[in-house]
Amino acid sequence: MHATISIPTYVKSARLKAWVMDMAELLKPDNIHWCDGSQAEYDRFCEELVKSGTFTKLDSEKRPGCFLARSDPSDVARVEDRTYICSVKKEDAGPTNNWMDPKEMKATLGKLFDGAMKGRTLYVIPFSMGPIGSPISYIGYEITDSLYVVTNMKLMTRMGRAVDEALGDSDTFVPCLHSVGMPLEPGQKDIPWPCNPTVKYIVHFPEERLIWSYGSGYGGNALLGKKCLALRIASVIGRDEGWMAEHMLILGVTDPKGRKTYVAAAFPSACGKTNFAMLIPPKEIEGWKVTTIGDDIAWLKPAADGKLYAINPEAGYFGVAPGTNYKTNPNAMISCSKNTIFTNVALTDDGDVWWEGMDGEPPAHAIDWQGNDWTPGCGRKAAHPNSRFTAPAGQNPAIDPDWENPKGVPISALVFGGRRSTVPPLVYQPLSWAFGVYAAATMGSEMTAAAFGNIGQVRRDPMAMIPFCGYHMGAYFNHWLDMGRKFPIPPRIFCVNWFRKDKDGNFLWPGYGENMRVLKWIVERSNGSARAVEGPLGYSPTYEDLDWRGLDFTREQFDAVMSVDREEWMKELVSHEELFIKLFDKLPKELLSVRDLLISGLYRSPSKWQPPEYGTVNS
Ligand code: OXD
Ligand code: MN
Repeated sequence: MHATISIPTYVKSARLKAWVMDMAELLKPDNIHWCDGSQAEYDRFCEELVKSGTFTKLDSEKRPGCFLARSDPSDVARVEDRTYICSVKKEDAGPTNNWMDPKEMKATLGKLFDGAMKGRTLYVIPFSMGPIGSPISYIGYEITDSLYVVTNMKLMTRMGRAVDEALGDSDTFVPCLHSVGMPLEPGQKDIPWPCNPTVKYIVHFPEERLIWSYGSGYGGNALLGKKCLALRIASVIGRDEGWMAEHMLILGVTDPKGRKTYVAAAFPSACGKTNFAMLIPPKEIEGWKVTTIGDDIAWLKPAADGKLYAINPEAGYFGVAPGTNYKTNPNAMISCSKNTIFTNVALTDDGDVWWEGMDGEPPAHAIDWQGNDWTPGCGRKAAHPNSRFTAPAGQNPAIDPDWENPKGVPISALVFGGRRSTVPPLVYQPLSWAFGVYAAATMGSEMTAAAFGNIGQVRRDPMAMIPFCGYHMGAYFNHWLDMGRKFPIPPRIFCVNWFRKDKDGNFLWPGYGENMRVLKWIVERSNGSARAVEGPLGYSPTYEDLDWRGLDFTREQFDAVMSVDREEWMKELVSHEELFIKLFDKLPKELLSVRDLLISGLYRSPSKWQPPEYGTVNS
């Protein structure tokens, strides 16, 4: 039996209609539903998910409007080894991406998609990445057979009829095809988390601006607006059109005089990005306020006024739950207090959720993320380490009033930081745009989970984009250098490292809200009001340049987080070579000159450089 398609009359795009009809013929679903994105539709879908056992409704007083889903244990995270950039030429994908010839990939996936939605409903999700109608936004259409995906897309994007109307008869949208890869035979009963436990493909066709995803229902593998469209495909569109799609949070800083400065910051996964995006300044830093525009992705476009404007293409947070609590991130806790979908956290006996690192005592009993009984001493984690909350961004008490401004917000500073227990200091400002691009291109992060390598090993993650750049990383560096030439005064670039440790493995910097002290210097520096001294890597604050009100942090402690060790840095620079050699065919040669200048700066400086005391140097 073939489902008939009834396309809403307000859908006008000929390309869209033809694509949906072609896909329906290939996928052979039992039913087809074109989502209108209304609240009534969302509520109906949630009810259906409760009936099918995918969702558990949480207590309506403790977590109003909230649901819990448990995924298949084989489907708990993004699958980087199954993620492909299928550009026509292999060299355009570059050595850091998996590649397959697009024709070959289409033949392989065409077979898998043939009949993949038998026994299921095909949902068409119209979505806009960015405020509908913004000149920076982009429209996508996701075809999926997962109602879990539909409900998450409703929270993570602007979704529904208004998008169809905004598209009108235009052909400009990104088609995103998704199936969980588990067709149902007649009479076969569905399971709460359908997926294909063995075959998964997350595939991008950059020239066609097309996404095909098969076999997974989880996160970035399945919510195709996020990493697939807003980063991998958008990075290619940005390269072609002269803008940037970056793995960056965006925040606004208001000073006591009410002046606002916007900052975008890139950190690899698992470096506390959401916490930084929602930072609450210590109360002693009086009159300073931080507001959130976005916590994961920034689209940055130069405007006619010579500034770089940013939007958050997303409308929700897909945040990591474990470790989130009222101390580390009160705004995230409030954001997910209602109307939230939780995935792979634990269920408490009173119908609430729990995860490792939540405030207070662990519950005496819970149901863990795999649906089993759990007690505190049982030796297993209650929540999966990559368990998530999907929450509407508008619920963040610190949401910036301009977070949906279609113009975007003007960015004054770009911040880069990885998780490093040694080598990079707490903060410095590279000498120029090119030095900043070098620093961002060579940033690294120590692995926290065994998924990507050995724990503690440094993974080079240029601009935090290694898993998300849709083309050759060397060409991407060149695009960055190029972008810097578009501005009379480019945004200032800064590097931070919150994670330096002493010899005994203790963190040297308190982090979290205290990061405001560094952020304040960054903001003042971008606005030309903060002092700095020139060190071997660039400009640094001295002890006197940071605001220490309310924190007992000595000059010796400051020196320990700020020192630059020549030996360590020489080794670090040598290790950058590995990345550069890998990317050599498209590596901009300016970066090699920058490296030479850094070496010479290190030679000129003491073997262990520390910011000098105030007044001992000119600045
Ligand atoms: C994310 C990631 O989930 O970067 O945002 O992995
Ligand atoms: Mn991310």
